[in-house]
Amino acid sequence: MNTVKAMKNAIVCLILLPRFFLAAIMLWFLDFHCVRKRVFPKMKEQEGNIVDPPVCISESNRMFSWESIKAVWHGHKLDFLKSAHLGYVAPNTEVVQLRDQRCNRILDYAKEKRPLILNFGSCTCPPFMTRLKAFQRVVQQYADISDSVVVYIEEAHPSDGWMSSDAPYQIPKHRCLEDRLSAAQIMNREVPGCLVVADSMDNSSNAAYGAYFDRLYILQDGKIVYQGGRGPEGYRISELRDWLDQYRQSVGNSRNVVIHV
Ligand SMILES: *[C@@H]1O[C@H](CO)[C@@H](O)[C@H](O)[C@H]1NC(C)=O
Repeated sequence: MNTVKAMKNAIVCLILLPRFFLAAIMLWFLDFHCVRKRVFPKMKEQEGNIVDPPVCISESNRMFSWESIKAVWHGHKLDFLKSAHLGYVAPNTEVVQLRDQRCNRILDYAKEKRPLILNFGSCTCPPFMTRLKAFQRVVQQYADISDSVVVYIEEAHPSDGWMSSDAPYQIPKHRCLEDRLSAAQIMNREVPGCLVVADSMDNSSNAAYGAYFDRLYILQDGKIVYQGGRGPEGYRISELRDWLDQYRQSVGNSRNVVIHV
């Protein structure tokens, strides 16, 4: 059994190595002042929009370190091994409610056939936090046709790991469920009106959805109908909004058809 596991690990490593090296080299380059000065203003010009402001990284943050390499590897591995795939059954993992610390399952939050938005992230993830207000607006705008849950996962930039001075809060790695719940409470205060739950301490939701550093999903009828890209690069509130917009139109159209008949 152990040899099977080791074999599987070795295969995963081999497949992931090329893209991991590419990411590591990128991080290394970004530590050079001259590269950073050129790359970031370009990103600002290209992707500049209100809903998804470009990722900004302050001068003081080092990109290439043992901690950052470990975090990037962890993210790649979770993404590769996740069980959530577009069009397939949504993993029904366990999450913890903040109010009463009760364990629930993700699909418990789905209401009949209404789409359920899942927003995975943490307070130490700068792109997640800068887009939180835009997320809240989208959720409110489409509240008549969809529901949403924010799932608090492990810290993207814990203060005792790959810390980031751009994060609005400095929070160390969660050592127990209480740590995670109190971090999730901070998030809860940032998004009044949104439901915030915490991933369990075995990180099963994070693993099933490949959610680290941050990620968006939409579930409907127990299936995954939208899968956002791996954060931070693939994390886009505008994609979420576009999906909901299309959905609203299709629902409206089918209603019209019913009326005409
Ligand atoms: C889950 O993540 C936390 C970090 O927030 C870590 O301390 C813990 O060991 C992880 N649990 C498992 C089972 O990997």
